[in-house]
Amino acid sequence: MSINHPMVNTAVKAARRAGRIINQAADNLDVLTVRHKSLNDLVSEVDRASEAAVIDTIRTAYPEHAILAEESGATGKSEYVWIIDPLDGTTNYLHGLPQYCVSIAMAHKGILTHGVIYDPTRNDLYIASRGRGAFVNERRMRVSRRDKLIDALLGTGFPFRMFEHLDAYVAMMKHLMTRTVGIRRPGSAALDLAAVAAGRLDGFWEIGLSPWDMAAGVLMIQEAGGLVGDLEGNDRYMQSGNIVAGNPKIFVQLVQAIQPHLTAALRG
Ligand code: IPD
Ligand code: CA
Ligand code: CA
Repeated sequence: MSINHPMVNTAVKAARRAGRIINQAADNLDVLTVRHKSLNDLVSEVDRASEAAVIDTIRTAYPEHAILAEESGATGKSEYVWIIDPLDGTTNYLHGLPQYCVSIAMAHKGILTHGVIYDPTRNDLYIASRGRGAFVNERRMRVSRRDKLIDALLGTGFPFRMFEHLDAYVAMMKHLMTRTVGIRRPGSAALDLAAVAAGRLDGFWEIGLSPWDMAAGVLMIQEAGGLVGDLEGNDRYMQSGNIVAGNPKIFVQLVQAIQPHLTAALRG
C-alpha cells in the first residue's frame, strides 16, 4: 500500500536524489567545508548540494510553484509551496552519527498536503498525503496505542542554538523524566516526528523549530491518527516553532504536564 500522486512521486524522486548525494559525501566527512551560520548552527556543502538537487527536481516538474528551503530561503509566489529541509540532523551527519534525513513537504493554500521524509542511512521512505494516510516503506503507519504518560517513551530536542528558554525547557524535562518511561534526543526533528507517526515514540516536544523541520512530519502524525499542537495544545506551532505531538492520549497528558513550566514568552 502506498500513495500514487504525481507530487508525491516528484518529492520521492527529489529526496532519493538528495539521499545519494548525502550518502556519497558521508564517506569523506573530513574533507567537507563547514561554515557556522551562527553559534552551533552548522551548514556544509552537502546541505547546499542536497538542497540544489531537491529544488532542481521540483522545479523541473513544477516550474510555477514556490519554494521555502532552509539554505536558500523563499522563492516564487504560488498557492503551492514546497517546504524543504535538505539535511535534517546536520550535526549528527558531520559527526558520522547515522541519524539524519531529507524532509520535503508541499502546502497548498497554506494547508499541508503532502510530506516525504527519506532516511538515507536506513533507506527508509516515509510518505503522507492529506486524506490518504501515512506510510513507511509502503506499510501503513499508525501512532502508538499507549495511553498513560507514565508508560510513554518521548522524543525531544534540546536547545542548542538559542538558550533563552533553557530554564523553562529543563523544568519540563525534569518533570517528564520522572513521569515517563524515558526521553530520547535523537537529533533530527523530522525523523523524530516520523517516529511518532510510526508508533515508535509515543510523544514529542521541542522549542524553537523551523517550518522545514516540522512540515512533513506533522502531516505524517496527523495522517497516522495522532495530534500536533503548540505548547498549549493550540495550532500555532508553525508560527511559534514550539511543538507538542503524540498519540491522542499522550498528546493531552503531555500538554498538561508542560503547562506549569511555561513562561509568558512561551505562551500564546
Ligand atoms: C535540527 C534538527 C534537530 C533539532 C534542531 C533542528 P538541522 O535541524 O532537527 O533535531 O533539535 O532544532 O534545527 O539544523 O540539522 O537541519
Ligand atoms: Ca532541520
Ligand atoms: Ca537542515
